[in-house]
Amino acid sequence: MIKRIGVLTRDCSGVNAALRSVVRTADSHGIEVLGIIRGYDGLIDGNFMPLDRRAVSGILNQGGTILKSARSRRFLTEEGQRKALETIEKNQLDALVVIGGNGSLTAAHLLATKFGVKVMGIPATIDNDVNGVDFCLGADTAVNVALDALDKIRDTATSLERIFVVEVMGRDCGYLAMKVALAGGCEDVIIPEQDFSLAEICREIQEGNAREKVSWIIIVAEGRATAAEVATAITMLTGLETRIAVLGHIQRGGRPTAFDRILGAKLGHAAIEYLLQGKTDCCLSLKEDRIETVSLEIAIQPKKLKFEADYRLLKILS
Ligand code: F6P
Repeated sequence: MIKRIGVLTRDCSGVNAALRSVVRTADSHGIEVLGIIRGYDGLIDGNFMPLDRRAVSGILNQGGTILKSARSRRFLTEEGQRKALETIEKNQLDALVVIGGNGSLTAAHLLATKFGVKVMGIPATIDNDVNGVDFCLGADTAVNVALDALDKIRDTATSLERIFVVEVMGRDCGYLAMKVALAGGCEDVIIPEQDFSLAEICREIQEGNAREKVSWIIIVAEGRATAAEVATAITMLTGLETRIAVLGHIQRGGRPTAFDRILGAKLGHAAIEYLLQGKTDCCLSLKEDRIETVSLEIAIQPKKLKFEADYRLLKILS
């Protein structure tokens, strides 16, 4: 029997949409929901707010998370984990829904395996690096936010005939960089998953210059290099002036796209339905039009993505 659950979140666009769906689906089954403020720190401190249907109205189009979030150092300690368990027991939480990326899901897996807490994960990270999950909440919005910025940079790149190196987030995953580069018609992309040669990039730039192609935009994933490193090297090798832009945290915020809102709705709903079916220690993944479960043990392993086909396409089109 599940009568009361807790829900905690990391921040990215679409998280509020998922939270709304969790709360309203739970309500339709007569399940009470406690929102946990500031992630795992809030779980340790028992920092909760009751969430009913009305508490989650008007949040669907908001970025970030209304529950606030934190990178909890205390949960990494035995004492923190024990305190979290005490809070779960004291408040009679029958299950936890954890909306977040690798760190949050790893902690959820620990609660499930070490203490037998029922947990359901909703993958939410702009990095899109949860193993076995094609689409993490927030990644689509991040690509679109970065693309919007890139389109503006291109206006200057084209007008002033300049080379730009644009750094995007993604931690150790090149997903965001590759999708932005492809969608933005960029000349090149540097990502952790594949080798690159600066000499080759510079040769292309110089050949381009000879045929009067003078504006270039190169995307670099933060997990591979910094924009400053790449730009300095290009200037050294070609003698051409190069500008940089580091997009940073703007990529994690903003109004969620329709895709992320719908994904949030589906994942939030499925989280409750799967918990009621007795599923635990897993997270959710959209496959075609169904939501399936992936065990957390698998989900927290490093994700190995291949981008050769995307890269070939980018080079053909640039
Ligand atoms: O995991 C999401 C992410 O935005 C990464 O892309 C980035 O490397 C990191 O978090 C930044 O973390 P913080 O917000 O703690 O600086």
